[in-house]
Amino acid sequence: MKIKFQDLRVLDENLRSDLMNDLKESFEDGKYIAGDAVKNIENIFSEFFSSPEAVFTSSGTSALIICLQSLGVSSGDEVIIPAMSWISTAHIVRELGATPVFCDITDRLLIDLDILEALITDKTKVIIPVHFGGLSCDMNRLIDISHKYSLSIIEDCSQAFGNKYNGRRLGTFGEFGCFSLNPMKIFGALGEAGLIISQSRHETIRSKIYCGVDSEKKILSAGINHRGDNLQARFLKTIFKYKDMKEKKVKELWKLYNDNLSDKVQLIGEGEDFIPYCVNILIENRDYIEKILNDNEIETKKIHLPLMSDISIYSSCVKSDENAQKIKSKLLTLPLHQYLNSDDVLKICHIINREII
Ligand SMILES: Cc1ncc(COP(=O)(O)O)c(C=O)c1O
Repeated sequence: MKIKFQDLRVLDENLRSDLMNDLKESFEDGKYIAGDAVKNIENIFSEFFSSPEAVFTSSGTSALIICLQSLGVSSGDEVIIPAMSWISTAHIVRELGATPVFCDITDRLLIDLDILEALITDKTKVIIPVHFGGLSCDMNRLIDISHKYSLSIIEDCSQAFGNKYNGRRLGTFGEFGCFSLNPMKIFGALGEAGLIISQSRHETIRSKIYCGVDSEKKILSAGINHRGDNLQARFLKTIFKYKDMKEKKVKELWKLYNDNLSDKVQLIGEGEDFIPYCVNILIENRDYIEKILNDNEIETKKIHLPLMSDISIYSSCVKSDENAQKIKSKLLTLPLHQYLNSDDVLKICHIINREII
């Protein structure tokens, strides 16, 4: 039987029945946008992150672009981002007329702080570290760099909901923490959704969420619609209650990979507390092993290739991506989801260990 890369079905009877109830409530109160459900989920997030501001958005991309806008990023500015992320991390910069500057990544697929400083110019305004695969960048060091050059940090935590750095939740270190809550995330909705966390109340963000219109319906500026909807907010409130169950499962599976993959395989991740978003490995004979896995009906991906720095629309941008270029031929992403069983993982490990050079 095929081993799926991802499986987003809702099979737990209790969760399914609670979600059906959310849908029923929405049909009954007839409030699909701008209702109490959005306020409720924002309160839950605000408490979870111990942050005074939590703004529910329609996607992670929306969250990121509003934050860049509220920091005044526009034409002529530069924003430093890692060479590898989901492409929206670069597109949001370009969308505002600013220029992404691509910084190389480490073998943990995180922005390389040894390289970053050399990329800072008079035009640099913001750094966007991406906590790739759920792993944290060295936030203390990054914050020191940002202070030295008076730059803002927006953390792209799209793959890292709930993960921590030195005991503190990711998303709470920069001016803003942005999250994608789409269904592919370990904690995700049943459709598009996103979140912004900030350590101070943020009227600018609030005013940008819905066409530049504030809560008193005054039009403050030009803008487009980025707000999250009630139904996804309701679903997320329910899914939040079941979050630990799913996290426990993916943590166990990740540990099983860690315990059973040969030492020749570089598995990217870390200790007990880490909530993995995916299982990324670096291996020399990647294409060969991927083919064997696929021939055995095991689905794989290469998250997130091609590199953003390789995409033609960014060919004229400044880039430092030497290590990313090496990584791109070694990276393979293995199945991880709550319906994967131990035998599936052992089978995958067995094939890789047998075929690795
Ligand atoms: C690192 C990263 N940044 C940004 C995004 C964009 O989020 P969304 O798809 O919710 O717009 C994603 C989504 O997968 C992501 O993984």
